[in-house]
Amino acid sequence: MLDIVIFGGVGDLSLRKLLPSLYYLFRDKQLSSKTRILCVSRSPLERDEFLNKVEEKLVFFLGADFKKGIWNRFAQILLYEDIDVSTSKDWHKLVTFLSVEDSEKDILYYLSVTPALFSPICEHLKENGLNPPFSRVVVEKPLGEDFESAKDIGRILASCFKEDQIYRIDHYLGKEAVQNILHLRFSNHLMETVWSKDHIERVDITVSETVGVEGRARFLDRIGTLRDMVQNHLMQLLSYITLEAPKSLNADDIRDQKIKVIRALRPIDAANVAESTIKAQYTSGEVEGIKVPGYQDELRQQPYEVEGAGETFVALKVHIDNPRWAGVPFYLKTGKRMECRLAEIRITFKPPASNIYSETDSNQLTIQIQPELTVSINLLMKQLMGTDAQLISHKNQMNLNNRDGDKTRMPEAYERLLREIIKGNQTYFVRGDEILASWKWIDSIRNAWDVTGQEMLTYKAGSMGPSLD
Ligand code: BG6
Repeated sequence: MLDIVIFGGVGDLSLRKLLPSLYYLFRDKQLSSKTRILCVSRSPLERDEFLNKVEEKLVFFLGADFKKGIWNRFAQILLYEDIDVSTSKDWHKLVTFLSVEDSEKDILYYLSVTPALFSPICEHLKENGLNPPFSRVVVEKPLGEDFESAKDIGRILASCFKEDQIYRIDHYLGKEAVQNILHLRFSNHLMETVWSKDHIERVDITVSETVGVEGRARFLDRIGTLRDMVQNHLMQLLSYITLEAPKSLNADDIRDQKIKVIRALRPIDAANVAESTIKAQYTSGEVEGIKVPGYQDELRQQPYEVEGAGETFVALKVHIDNPRWAGVPFYLKTGKRMECRLAEIRITFKPPASNIYSETDSNQLTIQIQPELTVSINLLMKQLMGTDAQLISHKNQMNLNNRDGDKTRMPEAYERLLREIIKGNQTYFVRGDEILASWKWIDSIRNAWDVTGQEMLTYKAGSMGPSLD
C-alpha cells in the first residue's frame, strides 16, 4: 500500500502538475485504489472545500480528459490535513494517518514547499519516527542558490533520509526526448561510433523561451538565468549528451557517468570568462507577433521593487577536458523573451576527411525536445539534375511523438517522473554529489562575473540573443 503525502498540497505546483499527473496515473491503473494521497498545508480547509478546489483545477488543466466518473473515484483517495509544519503541535495528525508500524507500506513525501521548510519537515519526520527505510522523499529546484546553500540542503535531507530514498527532480529529465537520448546514443552502432571529438565539430544546446518574468520577477531577477536554467536543465542535457557508456541501466551506473562529465568541465574563471560567457537582458521588441516591453520596464511595472541586476539570457562556450571531448566546443544558450519556444541539441559533424566535392555543408543531428519531439539528421545528396559536384542537404526527420502512427497520449514530465518514483527507479533523478559538482562550476562563473565586472549586454525581445561564435 502506498501513501503519498504532499507538503504544499494545495500550492501551485501541486494543483497544476502533481494532482493532474496523479489523476492520470490513477486513471491508467498505475495507482491502486488503496493508495492514499494526503495533501498537507497550513490553511484549515473542510473536505468539501478542498475537493472543490482540486476538482476546479483538474477541470481546467485536464480539459477533455477530466471525466466525472474517474474524478469521483479519484476523490475517494484524496485527503487533506492542515498542519503547520514549522511547529510540533500538528504532527500527531500525520503520525495517526501514517501508522508507520506497518512495514508493508510505502510512504512517499513530496516536499512541494520552499526549501526553508525542508529543515522543520525533516526534523519533525525524524522526531516522530516517520522516516522508516521504506519511505522516500521528493524535492525539486531550487535546491540551493550556490554550492554552500546546496550543501546545507543536502545535509538536511541526509539527516532524515539515505541517498537511495531521495528523489531530486529536474523536470527536464521527465521529458520524453531527453529520456530518449541514452537509447539513441547507446543502442545505435551508427551513433556510438561517431560520438567523439574525432567526428564531432561542435555541439549546440539551446533552450529559448518566449515568456518574460511573469509573476516571478523578484525571484528571477535575484537568481538570474544562469542559476535558474543552466545549473540544472542545461547541465543535465549536456551530461546526457556527453557521458561515457554506463556499465548498465542501473541508476547509479548512469549517474556515476554523469558526474564524471560535470567534473571534467573546464572551469570558467576570471581568466576566460569574457571569451566564454555572455549575460544579457532583453529590451522591448515583438515576440510571436505581440509587442512586449523590455526587462527593465517590466520590472518597473511590478507592485514591488526589483533591483534589475539579473540576467535573462546566458550564452556559454564550454569545454569538457576528457579524452572523448577534448577540443570540441559546446555552446549553451538560454533566455527568456526570445524568438520562439525551443529546446534542442544540435550535433554538427566534421566534414569528410577527403572531400572530393567542391560544395560542402555539415551533417547535423538535431534532437528537438520541444515544442516538437523529433530527431532529425541532414545528409548531403546529389542535387536532382545538378552537375556531379552539386550537392543538396536533405533533412530526414523522425517524430518521437507519433512513432509508427501510435496515437497514445504523451504523458507530461511530472507524470513520467512520478511513475518512476512510485516504481523506485532513481535513474531520472539527480544525485546529491551531482548537484554539488554543478553548483561548484556555476559559482566559479558568477564569481568571475563579479571579479571582472562583466558587462550586461542587451538583446531585442523576439530575437535569438547574442552569440559567442
Ligand atoms: C523552470 C524555470 O525550471 O523551467 C523557469 O524556473 C522556466 O524559469 C522553466 O520557464 C522552463 O521549463 P519548460 O519545461 O517550459 O522548458
